[in-house]
Amino acid sequence: MTDTDHNGHILVVDDEPSMRTTLSILLRREGYEVSQAGTGAEALGMLEQGGYDMVLTDLKMEGIDGMELLRHIKAAAPQTEVLIFTAYGTIATAVEAMKLGAYDYIGKPFDEEELLLKVARALERKALVSEVRDLRAELKGQGGRGKIIAASKQMREVLARVRQVAPTEATVLIEGESGTGKEVVARAIHQASPRSDRPFIPVNCSAFPETLLESELFGYEKGAFTGADKARKGLFEAAHTGTLLLDEIGDMPPPLQGKLLRVLQEGEVRRLGSTVPIKVQVRIVTATNKGAEQLVAQGTLREDLFYRLNVVRISIPPLRERPDDIIPLAQHFLEICRKKAQKEITGFAPDAVKAMLDHPWPGNVRELENAVERGAITCRSPSITAQDLSLGLFPLDAASVEKGTTLKELEQSCILTALERHGGNQAKAARELGIGRNTLWRRLKEYGLLP
Ligand SMILES: Nc1ncnc2c1ncn2[C@@H]1O[C@H](COP(=O)(O)OP(=O)(O)OP(=O)(O)O)[C@@H](O)[C@H]1O
Ligand SMILES: [Mg+2]
Repeated sequence: MTDTDHNGHILVVDDEPSMRTTLSILLRREGYEVSQAGTGAEALGMLEQGGYDMVLTDLKMEGIDGMELLRHIKAAAPQTEVLIFTAYGTIATAVEAMKLGAYDYIGKPFDEEELLLKVARALERKALVSEVRDLRAELKGQGGRGKIIAASKQMREVLARVRQVAPTEATVLIEGESGTGKEVVARAIHQASPRSDRPFIPVNCSAFPETLLESELFGYEKGAFTGADKARKGLFEAAHTGTLLLDEIGDMPPPLQGKLLRVLQEGEVRRLGSTVPIKVQVRIVTATNKGAEQLVAQGTLREDLFYRLNVVRISIPPLRERPDDIIPLAQHFLEICRKKAQKEITGFAPDAVKAMLDHPWPGNVRELENAVERGAITCRSPSITAQDLSLGLFPLDAASVEKGTTLKELEQSCILTALERHGGNQAKAARELGIGRNTLWRRLKEYGLLP
């Protein structure tokens, strides 16, 4: 069951001392290790220390009741099984509890045999579940990467849309703040499409200077420009019969936008330095972290191209607008970190759950991913605390900022400090800042700080 010599460690939670005693005697006789808590709050404190396989709890208690306890457990350590006691007349609540992830319920007064059977079954399931989890993680070798978490209504709608458009050839425009999962969604469209065994190629339009982006996309013939000492295929050709994701489409220079429009209309490309058209059959997905209409209005996105790209639009809401995704995403990222962290981590402490739900997540899912990773590395108890996550920690003391300092200057100094701390490594600096590498790159470009 566990790696210790008892059959399982059970926490009994009930505000009636006689009930706790009866249960403890009964369970210990069966070889279980039993601990007791008289209130929900006490139980939470004990659970935070980790090491419990199962919780038996009464529903009705003063303060934190059985339902709330269940919610905390399922957020903090979902692999802990929960069995609920229900007095006469609370069956409806018991059913509700099972929806929230309770293993089962049992009536009060209880039948001894029935109770022991349910406990044994629940513990068996727990063992199986963790075995399956380990096997799966091993199989994938990367513990669930690539999986899309969509617990909120908004994300379920996004996925419904993905399934709807995937089988078609329609161009898709994906909108969403930085770190909301635009690339994840683009990849999902590709994966669910008939092109799934063909290449999926993401290109970040803001990461190249204009001429380089052009030769990347279109390729070139030998001698097309100085340095072109042999011919090279462009990404349109490489993505032939597959999907090309043009990320940050608003950063594509206008002349190139015109060329892109022609590719879309004619279904062919010409390599730089060549007049021979090459047929390409590529599905185009574009992404932007600014509103597409806004890009058109400010003249950074050609209107005719916009209409061509905007056949289907998918908008991914920022994480703060879909709080139902926060904890499931955190669990998902923890699952991925677990192996790497090489220590037993059961889940998140109640204060961490609260901190995550309260945080505004300006860096969206990517920021959450980084916070969980940080938490898994720094935590010293089996559960990750709010402090381990260190959300919203800002290195500056607001009072010490000089009068007249602009937000832009503050941002620059934060970016430079982060870069300095990581010896100029942009990926690491971006991670620490809770922004994407692209965003960092854009800022550096904007501030003229690029080497
Ligand atoms: N729904 C989700 N389920 C699981 N992981 C997700 C989800 N959404 C985002 N992620 C993860 O969050 C990180 C950021 O996602 P992604 O790169 O797709 O964001 P983006 O919107 O393209 O960001 P940017 O604007 O900076 O390019 C990635 O590591 C991705 O795997
Ligand atoms: Mg992206």
